[in-house]
Amino acid sequence: MADLDGNINAKQFHPDVPAAQFSHSIRGAANLDWGMQNRLARILDPQTGKTVMLAFDHGYFQGPTSGLERIDLNIAPLSELADALMCTRGALRTSISPATQAGLVLRASGGPSILKDLSDEYTAMAIEDAVRINADAIAVQVFIGGEHESRSVRNLTTLVDAGYDTGIPVLGVTAVGKELTRDSRYLGLATRIIAELGAQLVKTYYCEEGFEDVVAGCPVPVIMAGGKKLPELDALTMASNAVRAGAAGVDMGRNIFQSANPEAMMRAVRAVVHEDLDPADAYELYRELSNAKVDA
Ligand code: R5P
Repeated sequence: MADLDGNINAKQFHPDVPAAQFSHSIRGAANLDWGMQNRLARILDPQTGKTVMLAFDHGYFQGPTSGLERIDLNIAPLSELADALMCTRGALRTSISPATQAGLVLRASGGPSILKDLSDEYTAMAIEDAVRINADAIAVQVFIGGEHESRSVRNLTTLVDAGYDTGIPVLGVTAVGKELTRDSRYLGLATRIIAELGAQLVKTYYCEEGFEDVVAGCPVPVIMAGGKKLPELDALTMASNAVRAGAAGVDMGRNIFQSANPEAMMRAVRAVVHEDLDPADAYELYRELSNAKVDA
């Protein structure tokens, strides 16, 4: 308790100054509780409102993945360049330093491996463990139009309820099965359903036509999923197109960790997302950083 000796009367009340108003820039978040908004601000950079998330949760269904053979060696050094890490609790606990300052988005649905029907998922994590880990969000895949659509929606809503109990936001991920087309009609349907069912963030694939309508029709931030490895310039162009169409950033995995120079690619993606650098200039940055590493 503070020493009462020498107590000075409080008088700096500034009655002429209005009380602080916090105009939050995160879409759809203004009415969320403080803890949830605080966690969202650890994922979406408060300066730009955007995120560069590094996804390396692939092992939860496909085991060892090219570029992720040793997460402690390949991914951990990149973690401080990411606004947030998207991974499984197993990868986090075994391979990422608890001193990391990156936001944490934990994979919370799973079940089938690549040997089975991938849509046959259940929730794969208790909210108590997300609290224990100090997660900033949990991620759940939703298979709109898939065989197990209703169950995956139930997975989402169960985790959204648990998230409200604890102040942890949910990232709903549109999972596109082989039989479904990644066009704006489908992605608009899936992202909107996921947001309306309570997810505070949505991740979805980019589509060339009408992505701005997908984003505009979704009342929470839309984060672009990376997808298969592309040539670096193409991946930077896709990220730029998505952000310029209104996406709140990207969640990229293979296009980062399967790049010839993952660190240079992270920096180039950051420049596209946070500084609106043209993709051609970002690619030049990638090449310069890669060459500098070779020369060193
Ligand atoms: C989806 O949620 C997946 O688990 C990955 O996180 C996602 O596909 C991102 O990885 P990539 O950019 O390699 O597709």
